[in-house]
Amino acid sequence: INTEKFQADLLAWYDKHKKPLPWRLSRDPYKIWISEIMSQQTQVETVIPYYERFIKKYPTIKDLAEAEDAELLKLWEGLGYYSRARNLKLAAIEVQENFDGVFPSDLMDILSLKGIGPYTAAAIASIAFDAVEPAIDGNLLRVTSRLYRISEDISLGRSRKVFEEKLRGLISSERPGDFNQALMDIGSTICKPKQANCDSCPLADYCQLAFSEEAVNFPVKTKK
Ligand code: ADE
Repeated sequence: INTEKFQADLLAWYDKHKKPLPWRLSRDPYKIWISEIMSQQTQVETVIPYYERFIKKYPTIKDLAEAEDAELLKLWEGLGYYSRARNLKLAAIEVQENFDGVFPSDLMDILSLKGIGPYTAAAIASIAFDAVEPAIDGNLLRVTSRLYRISEDISLGRSRKVFEEKLRGLISSERPGDFNQALMDIGSTICKPKQANCDSCPLADYCQLAFSEEAVNFPVKTKK
């Protein structure tokens, strides 16, 4: 793959077709963090009104750290997985105590916060701080597996290395957050599990499984 051209085509597509998500209007790591936690088990379109209400009620990390548990859980009603909301408040308190109330920019510091795993840490670091880190969620696994015809079983933890290596070779160092989010949007709107829709994909020229019936068999996943 010609990396320069790939990035240019992907980012041009993103500039034209990206989802209009409210957190994309901000570089505030606090807002990016809230949006990523809410989007973990929920489609982003569903998240939008919850995100708007949450930011209105808790505009800063300090507000969240001081939140009333009952009010916080009330705001979360409908999103489910309430441990996410409890962990958000615990992490906000950690930021107050360990980072002087300033959301950390270092990937390892972000990863140290309660409820933040490798995907979320990379998403926040790239989107809010321009860290050149691939944020590998299910969408990126699927798009990347098809792009490179990766047959590694994604159920095996050690296969993640293969995907990370491929994405490290592709990611834009100028716009790493937009690069990640462009692939997320392609994964959710074009390169779907049971329909690859290569006709509308800006990456078809680069994709080993473009217009192939085999695409739907990727990524390979043994366990459910
Ligand atoms: N899913 C999770 N985070 C996302 C983001 N920032 N953009 C699009 N889809 C997402």
